[in-house]
Amino acid sequence: MITATAPKKFSVITYGCQMNDHDSEIMEGLLRSRGYEKTEDEHDADVVVFNTCCVREGAENRAIQRAQSLAAAKERRPGLVVAMSGCVAQDQGKRLLDRIPSLDIVIGTRDYIRLPELIEKYQIDGERIVATEDIDKPFSVNLVPIREQKLKGFVNIMYGCNNSCTYCIVPKTRGEEWSRPLAEVVDEVRGMVAQGYREVMLLGQNVNSYMTAAREDFADLLSALNEIDGLWRIRYTTSNPKSCRDRHIEAVAGCDKVMENLHLPVQSGNNRVLRMMKRAYNVERYRYLVEKFRAQNPLHSLTTDIIVGFPTETEEEFQDTLNLVRDMRYDNAFMFIYSPRAGTVSADTMVDDVPMKVKKDRLQRLIDLQESIAFEKNQEEIGRLHEVLVEGISKKDPGQLVGHTRTFKRVVFDGNARLIGSRVNVTITGGNGHTLMGDVVTREASFA
Ligand code: SAH
Ligand code: SF4
Ligand code: F3S
Repeated sequence: MITATAPKKFSVITYGCQMNDHDSEIMEGLLRSRGYEKTEDEHDADVVVFNTCCVREGAENRAIQRAQSLAAAKERRPGLVVAMSGCVAQDQGKRLLDRIPSLDIVIGTRDYIRLPELIEKYQIDGERIVATEDIDKPFSVNLVPIREQKLKGFVNIMYGCNNSCTYCIVPKTRGEEWSRPLAEVVDEVRGMVAQGYREVMLLGQNVNSYMTAAREDFADLLSALNEIDGLWRIRYTTSNPKSCRDRHIEAVAGCDKVMENLHLPVQSGNNRVLRMMKRAYNVERYRYLVEKFRAQNPLHSLTTDIIVGFPTETEEEFQDTLNLVRDMRYDNAFMFIYSPRAGTVSADTMVDDVPMKVKKDRLQRLIDLQESIAFEKNQEEIGRLHEVLVEGISKKDPGQLVGHTRTFKRVVFDGNARLIGSRVNVTITGGNGHTLMGDVVTREASFA
């Protein structure tokens, strides 16, 4: 008698940046291709993968605690396989097996494509596995990820980071910078467009230092992608001020599909702090680059990342950051309290001497300032016309649709769900610091 067995289920829980989001999509694709089905509930899964981040202590602790909390489930169901991938896995390797008794597999940031084989090996041998050794190898993944939404998708253009910002763990967890061949990226995007994707987000820690073995740079890549018929929009992150060359600025201006948002992390508005961070630019250079970029790309929104409370940062130096934020008038900013990470230069050689109370106070003042600027800038949008890619139904109000402008601002508006997947012209009628409201004035046809 043949008995049908229920398909095995997996759950991938993701922390951290868009690189991790995309790596998770690839792991999900690999597991599905082996017959696994996805479940959102880790307590119902046969395989649970925690894809982790250690850029700040909070993110790391959250992932570890959640993995530890599976101990009881593991005892009830000995067949359950628990794996940890991503930056914590790469950084800590086998130490994680001691910290998390219920963990079976530790898998590094360039080893995760072996996930299904490692699961099988573990199931056969029953021995816990640490696979983090591929970090030293050149890397390129040409696998089909399972992207959840068939409209916008991530594409890796490079891996790793060759910079040495003193606070940052990423070069250690992601390895040496390595750019994927241009033709391979173009092929992947063509394939996505054939499946119906209209917007791609190019991913890398320093996308504007993209440089292939054949000496193709980021400007070449943008120009090649801009030629793809059926592709509407190209986004990219993160650009590093250090590598912001004229060719990048001109290519953005010359490629009509490149979206009007520049994410250019500044980290601090003070030169002494920037030097201690080893960011390789000063405030004057940063201001000059933004001015030059805005002169050629006047419609762009500008976003950034900022760290407060870096070792020895004084109140006056923090005020330099506030002044820079006031002058730049960022549309949005990701703002963080400095978090010392073992193995980085700042954690190993500098004293984390800004008291937490002061750090929190600086963060709050910075957030208050940035939110008031974001609110003002969104008020200035009222009456303007924007092209919006209609992405779905608003979670808050099922009668409304939601999408993004080419400046990457979120807009909600009334409309029929049939518009999802198309572009519409929207007049902005209102907005707060985070979202704009609008009215549809023209549909897709006007773009033909
Ligand atoms: N490659 C990107 C950033 C990657 S990490 C770049 O260079 O811009 C994303 C952000 O996390 C950084 O821009 C920084 O603002 C923040 N970050 C990194 N390490 C941190 C730390 N130790 N403490 C607090 N924030 C940190
Ligand atoms: Fe970290 Fe600096 Fe590399 Fe960005 S550029 S990933 S902040 S080391
Ligand atoms: Fe975190 Fe690693 Fe991304 S440390 S921010 S998941 S590169």
